[in-house]
Amino acid sequence: MCIDLFVHSASQLLTMPGGPQRSSALGTLGLIEDGAVAIHAGKIIATGTTTSLRGRFEPRHEIDATGKVVLPGFVDPHTHAVWAGDRVDEFEMRIAGATYLEIMRAGGGIMATVRQTRAASVQQLVDQTRARLQRMLAHGTTTVEVKTGYGLDTAAELRQWAALARLQTEGPWDIVPTFLGAHAVPTEYAGRDDAYVDVVVNEMLPAVREQGVAMPGPVFCDVFCDDGAFTVAQARRVLEQARTLGFGVKIHADEFAHVGATALAVALGAVSADHVVRTSAEDISALGQSKTIAVSLPCTPFGLGQNDYTPARALLAANGLLALATDCNPGTAWCESMPFVVALACRYLHLTPAQAVAAATINAAYAAGVGDRVGSVEVGKQADVLVLDIPDYRHVGYRFGTNVVRTVVKAGRIVVETGQGGVL
Ligand code: NIG
Ligand code: FE
Repeated sequence: MCIDLFVHSASQLLTMPGGPQRSSALGTLGLIEDGAVAIHAGKIIATGTTTSLRGRFEPRHEIDATGKVVLPGFVDPHTHAVWAGDRVDEFEMRIAGATYLEIMRAGGGIMATVRQTRAASVQQLVDQTRARLQRMLAHGTTTVEVKTGYGLDTAAELRQWAALARLQTEGPWDIVPTFLGAHAVPTEYAGRDDAYVDVVVNEMLPAVREQGVAMPGPVFCDVFCDDGAFTVAQARRVLEQARTLGFGVKIHADEFAHVGATALAVALGAVSADHVVRTSAEDISALGQSKTIAVSLPCTPFGLGQNDYTPARALLAANGLLALATDCNPGTAWCESMPFVVALACRYLHLTPAQAVAAATINAAYAAGVGDRVGSVEVGKQADVLVLDIPDYRHVGYRFGTNVVRTVVKAGRIVVETGQGGVL
């Protein structure tokens, strides 16, 4: 049979089989030595050893992965990648001792990016965000969830939404869009939080729904439910309306304080509860009894110079589901590399390299609501496949600061080939 692409002779092919990996199943790699993948019409049509597949196909193109690792494209299930400008001044203030919440209460933080984002056109947002998505792709991220939340008025939130729709059309990445109108109470509503929540519920959510997007997967709504942000009652109002309008549900939970956001995520059947740092033992055990995936964002404490990370081992011991993401944003964590997240997760969440890679691929795909299409190298899935310039998958967490991604295949097409000069 004639096929488009044959990736062969990998020292290790990681297939990540069997769906979401819960608890002690996390880290099931489906490792095939001398592995090969047959790709046709954008899909994976066979996996196995090179010897077993070689004779069955006549490929139009081949990738020789001798001495290299082949695995599914990374999925980044939590980013705030659509913004304008930067906050490098706040980075310096934090180094000098100011805290994130102090800067936020003084009018900086999220509002500083909101001011820059409101001043940007859709085209400017598209251009700045495209550069980030290209760097993510070069580091192996083939599907990325992106939240709005730097507009915080209806027109500006819709401009962020429009930028995401345009970037999805451009590709080659897949974008999962999330409406985060309840990211902060904007300055003009200071002291009138509930009036702002009314606008989110009655005006923004219906407007975003109406504008629509042609996206490959689901559309989510998220709320920053924390000290200095929205209360559990306010988050519940927003997310219940979102559910009614057909959005999937996510929550920023327990990043700075334990206010009950994880319990709300479980009660609402949220697809994910994200951050999950200051989470109580009771909430960890509730997560373990639920389908809600805890998305850990180790770049955030790292980026803030803090030492509190998701209690990942306790979550797995409580039968939980864990995924990893960058949280890419201009305030706490401007990170565009999932391999760097894996490196942090091994050290600070005490995950094995196998667990961390699974949390960054198959479980991350489920946390982004696209686990049925991407996140593993299995027959029938979209052919999102990476070739890494390393002989053993454990090098992903072992090494950091060097991009080990050699080739990125997105939906069957080679979109990054470092040997030939970067992003194609
Ligand atoms: O996930 N927690 C809220 N949102 C981001 C930070 C956003 C910002 O500071 O601009 C986060 O850490
Ligand atoms: Fe976030």
